[in-house]
Amino acid sequence: MSETDYYSDTLGDFAPDPSEARRVVVLISGNGSNLQALIDAQQHDQLGGEIVAVISNQPDAYGLKRARDAGIDAVALPHREYESRDAFDGALIKVIERHEPDLVVLAGFMRILTPRFVQRFLGRMLNIHPSLLPDYQGLRTHARALADGVQEHGCSVHFVTEELDGGPVALQAAVAVAEGETEESLKSKVQAREHLITPIAVKWCLEGRLRFGTKGVTFDGTPLPPQGMRMSHADAAEELDEASGD
Ligand code: GRF
Repeated sequence: MSETDYYSDTLGDFAPDPSEARRVVVLISGNGSNLQALIDAQQHDQLGGEIVAVISNQPDAYGLKRARDAGIDAVALPHREYESRDAFDGALIKVIERHEPDLVVLAGFMRILTPRFVQRFLGRMLNIHPSLLPDYQGLRTHARALADGVQEHGCSVHFVTEELDGGPVALQAAVAVAEGETEESLKSKVQAREHLITPIAVKWCLEGRLRFGTKGVTFDGTPLPPQGMRMSHADAAEELDEASGD
């Protein structure tokens, strides 16, 4: 797929109906700490909408318990029970659409999606990825960043396209890699940033401020650069009340 394929005429700008409460469906596979950040934001009236369902392809995902505890519809849809990726994605589309979402959020959803699935939710589906995209697409991002000796790492919230971890970025947050940083310590700092920017990106999408349409990704109508908006290490550390020198 070329870089410009998704800026097609068929992709309508996503603009939720302002008269209705915005509806969010979250897809998870595991712990669900990003889901928890979204639930917390909703409970503090900072999400701009309501999480109407959480769906996991792993029936024992801890995130399903987080959803139930928050009174949110929690659905286990085990991919192993489907004979093909396409059959699973077809079932997933049906479950998602029953909940009539304005926005679908992939929050640690560890599945490669079929083009049909991506097309169905194009322009209204976000993913959280633990790197400063386009660097370190794919898995084990923290270990790879450390092995390369980078000074800066981080996370991205991006719109989902057919290219794995390749959709246009909306928001990023950076972290400075400290002396003696381990994979675990780096992961934990990056996750804190994920929990910071994910609810913000969701809110801006639901408010119609952040859009992925025919002009690419725009914020308040202004096109964003390929790497979206970036929160610096200093700003994120201040927001998170991290000890100085981290
Ligand atoms: C996060 O690190 C996210 O970047 C990646 O998967 C992880 C999910 O963590 N896509 P959690 O389930 O939200 O705790």
